[in-house]
Amino acid sequence: MKNKITLFSSFILPIYVAHGCPEKCTCHTVSKTADCKNRGLREIPAHLPPGIQILQLQNNHIWRINENAFTGTPLLKILDLSNNSLSSLAPGTFQKLRYLQVLNLTRNLIHYIENKTFSFLPHLKELDLSSNSIIRLPETFGNSTGNITLLSVKHNKLQKMERVLLESLPNLKVVLFKDNPWQCNCNVFGLKLWLESFLYRGGISDGIICSTPGIRKGKDLLKVPYELFGACPLTAAHVHLTSIHHHNFEHRSSLKHAHHNEHAENSWSNCDPKPKPRPVSLRHAIATVVITGVVCGIVCLMMLAAAVYGCAYAAITAKYHREHLASARQHGTPEEKEPFNSSLA
Ligand SMILES: *[C@@H]1O[C@H](CO)[C@@H](O)[C@H](O)[C@H]1NC(C)=O
Ligand SMILES: *[C@@H]1O[C@H](CO)[C@@H](O)[C@H](O)[C@H]1NC(C)=O
Ligand SMILES: *[C@@H]1O[C@H](CO)[C@@H](O)[C@H](O)[C@H]1NC(C)=O
Ligand SMILES: *[C@@H]1O[C@H](CO)[C@@H](O)[C@H](O)[C@H]1NC(C)=O
Ligand SMILES: *[C@@H]1O[C@H](CO)[C@@H](O)[C@H](O)[C@H]1NC(C)=O
Repeated sequence: MKNKITLFSSFILPIYVAHGCPEKCTCHTVSKTADCKNRGLREIPAHLPPGIQILQLQNNHIWRINENAFTGTPLLKILDLSNNSLSSLAPGTFQKLRYLQVLNLTRNLIHYIENKTFSFLPHLKELDLSSNSIIRLPETFGNSTGNITLLSVKHNKLQKMERVLLESLPNLKVVLFKDNPWQCNCNVFGLKLWLESFLYRGGISDGIICSTPGIRKGKDLLKVPYELFGACPLTAAHVHLTSIHHHNFEHRSSLKHAHHNEHAENSWSNCDPKPKPRPVSLRHAIATVVITGVVCGIVCLMMLAAAVYGCAYAAITAKYHREHLASARQHGTPEEKEPFNSSLA
């Protein structure tokens, strides 16, 4: 039908495109919605009405998005691409959508998010990336994503997530982490700190359940004690915590570390906390030190007292002896005369 119109009247075409709706979609002018769900689509339909704000593309087989797919619909606020076959997203895919508020990508086959895929979306509030195969998220989503309030990475293949990424989303209220193979080693220390502060500020999360290493499988990250991270290579924990000012010092100490242990580089990359032979709590250690100190102090005092007593006794004895000697010399006792004579001889 459309082809016939094109053939017969090339003059009408621009008007038709401007006000029409793709064959496979239903467009609602009042709600500014294009409903293209459940249509067996394999690509984003062309010629969408430029004024639409809601685009429903869920439950199709869309497997790729053209760089220019959304150039004609710059006013989109809600884009639902859930339950499709997307395996990758080109960095520029969403860049024209300056008014986008909700982006739903759940139930796709995405395994990798490029650095700038979600950059330049200043009004984005909800980003649903759940139920994909994502193994990597960028360090930060980049410019102008600071208004995100909901982020879901549920049910993916994430082992870690940069604390910087979460810190770059100051308006986050809900973050969903469930069903990922989280690796609870030194790398996740920053995430633990962030999550604690996020929950303290009233944020909502379904928590991080460790998957590896084996001894922490099934454990809540929040309940993994800090001391286990303390057993990590010193530098690993510090890199997260120290600023550039301390760089030289850190560098030196890491060199020292490397000198002590030739495998420092390897243990750095694996970054597994070294299991302590006996988990002694810090409080115990402090108590031990205090008690030892007190006992030592008491023993020292007793020794001091004994020394003072000994000295005093010695002095008194000496004095007594001297007096006794003097009086003995006066009286001229025979015992005292003997050395006197021998010294003379
Ligand atoms: C996903 O989409 C397919 C059609 O592509 C549909 O048959 C299926 O029911 C949808 N799944 C869900 C959970 O909506
Ligand atoms: C994304 O779509 C799914 C259904 O396909 C829905 O359950 C989910 O709530 C949506 N996410 C957001 C953030 O709206
Ligand atoms: C992504 O960003 C990281 C650091 O922010 C950088 O190391 C990496 O090279 C970037 N990747 C690409 C493909 O640009
Ligand atoms: C994006 O951020 C970089 C620095 O992180 C900055 O140089 C650049 O100007 C920013 N661009 C926009 C459009 O905000
Ligand atoms: C958040 O949205 C407001 C408008 O609602 C906008 O002015 C602001 O630039 C956005 N902030 C960020 C960090 O993108």
